[in-house]
Amino acid sequence: MKIDILTLFPEMFETFCETSIIGRAIKTGKVIIKVHNIRDYSNDPHKRVDDYGYGGGSGMVLMPEPVKRAIDSVKTKDSKVILLTPQGQPYNQKKALELKLEKHLVLVCGHYEGFDERIRYFVDEEISIGDYVLTGGELASMVITDSVVRLIDGVIKTESHTNDSFSQDLLDYPVYTHPLIFEGHSVPEVLTSGNHAKINAWRLEQQIKRTKNRRPDLLEKR
Ligand code: ADE
Repeated sequence: MKIDILTLFPEMFETFCETSIIGRAIKTGKVIIKVHNIRDYSNDPHKRVDDYGYGGGSGMVLMPEPVKRAIDSVKTKDSKVILLTPQGQPYNQKKALELKLEKHLVLVCGHYEGFDERIRYFVDEEISIGDYVLTGGELASMVITDSVVRLIDGVIKTESHTNDSFSQDLLDYPVYTHPLIFEGHSVPEVLTSGNHAKINAWRLEQQIKRTKNRRPDLLEKR
């Protein structure tokens, strides 16, 4: 899979692309991630990318030309172009699994107080990562990249994500490591029993109990 990220702040992605599982996925060729500065696509002599909005109102508006040019420079017939905006469709694990099947994602980060409405003509879909407003789409595009890349075959052990929270509309079960007793809290006995059928039954029971308590809306979906 290839992911092109279009942003005004490419430096925000440096550590993200070098660290942990994403860094390893890039190094081992499981994913190609390229970050492009939208400013490089401005034809303005001062490389301006925003201007005052028609009709007044506060704040500068991201202009459509440099964004369209940046999209055109990376887009192929296999691309899915996604705009990150709080007005997009809510993001979830089901969507991550869908995006994992794409060959090429182009993630367009909106910024400042807003972007010119006509940018919307040049994207395939719009995604929001939650009902809150970020200063830009950069963190949202990292959320999408992270959640999709970890699902690519060979990036992490398959069983690590088949049991993921949300993968069956259930939250994940609790896990424990050493020590056996920490500040008076013990590891549940069943986990040290060596009986895998019993352990699996306990884990499913925990998943259901936890989902019922914390996210009853997920159980209704199930
Ligand atoms: N840009 C600003 N806020 C956002 C959000 N919640 N989701 C996606 N992109 C955004």
